[in-house]
Parts: sequence; structure tokens; C-alpha cells
Amino acid sequence: MLQQEEINKVDSILDDASGQRGILIAVLQRVQEKVGYLPEEAMKMIANRLSLSLTNVYGVASFYKHFHFKPRGKNVVKVCMGTACHVRGAKAVLTEMEAKLGIKEGETTKDLSVTLETVGCVGCCALAPVATVNDQDLYGELNPKMVDDIVSTVRSEHGTHVYSTDQHLRSRCASRQVEEGTIGKGNAPSPCLLRHGMPGFGFP
Ligand code: FES
Repeated sequence: MLQQEEINKVDSILDDASGQRGILIAVLQRVQEKVGYLPEEAMKMIANRLSLSLTNVYGVASFYKHFHFKPRGKNVVKVCMGTACHVRGAKAVLTEMEAKLGIKEGETTKDLSVTLETVGCVGCCALAPVATVNDQDLYGELNPKMVDDIVSTVRSEHGTHVYSTDQHLRSRCASRQVEEGTIGKGNAPSPCLLRHGMPGFGFP
């Protein structure tokens, strides 16, 4: 059930949207930003104020993976299950992550500290297997033994990460691709080996 403070936030968003056409997705985004997810009560308020059916609102929201209907954790850990990560042991990393967190993929811990999800390629196959935290920090070249450290970090402060900046990440990816001979030293590094064809993985 929504708290009064959350109801006020949704109300305020709907006030701002008043009279605007084609505003549903923007409203859903803003409500999710403010409340953290899209509770049923908020969906009803949205449908009512935008003069749409609840089915219509749910239909649009459920079309996009971006929207969530259950509370999510303060931190969201995503284990990449794309082909390169899968081949290099992502399943074992995910299984260990599930065991350490005590939840299955798609679930949130009871204390709402962590949500565990899987994702397709995050564009850094050279460091596979890979996991991200809050879509910002990337942990690469993972194995199940490293999971304990990641979970402890995420649960405690979520501050220490393997590759701290996007620039650093790109240079690591680029170096690995050169080492593996996937790209020449003079070529621009590809953001994702699979998108450009990774030798041995059945891509052209
Ligand atoms: S498949 Fe995992 S980063 Fe590309």
C-alpha cells in the first residue's frame, strides 16, 4: 500500500502532466523514479487521471522491460548471460550469486538491499563473464570465487569496484581485444565483440 508521501508524489507528477497528450510513458517513468517501482495503486491513479483504462496502462508498462511492478532492491546486480559470458562461465557465476544472496534471478532480498537480474550483452564481451551493479560499475573476468567479494561490497557500501571509470573499462576491453587478435592495433575497438563477429563463436 502506498504511503501518503508516495501518493503526494504521484499526484504531483499527474498534476504536471495534466492536459498533455501522449504523456503516459513519461508519467510511468517519473512515477517509477520517485516511488522505485509501479505499484497497483499508482497505476490506478495514473489510469484515472489520464482517462485511460487500467488495462491500457498495464499494457503499455508491461511492454517495456524498464518498468517494474514489484519493489526493487537499493542495489541491482545484473549478471550478463549473453553468448560470450555464457561460454566463459556466467551460469556458474549466477548460481553462486543466487546462493550467496539467498534469492533466485529476478528476485529481491527481504531487506530490499539487492535485486538480482540477468541481462543480455552489456557490450564488454572481452571481459566476460561480466556483472554490473546499478548499471554503473562493471565487474569483469568473473569466476564463482569472486562472487563473495562482490556481494559483500554491494551489501556494505557498494563503493569498491574493479573498473571504476568508463574510460578505464574501454581501454581494458580494447587491450583484451588486441591481445586476442580480435582487432588490429590500429583499428577502433568494438564495444562488443559479438556485434562485430567473435572468432570461434559462430558469428560471421
Ligand atoms: S555477452 Fe556478456 S558482455 Fe557481451
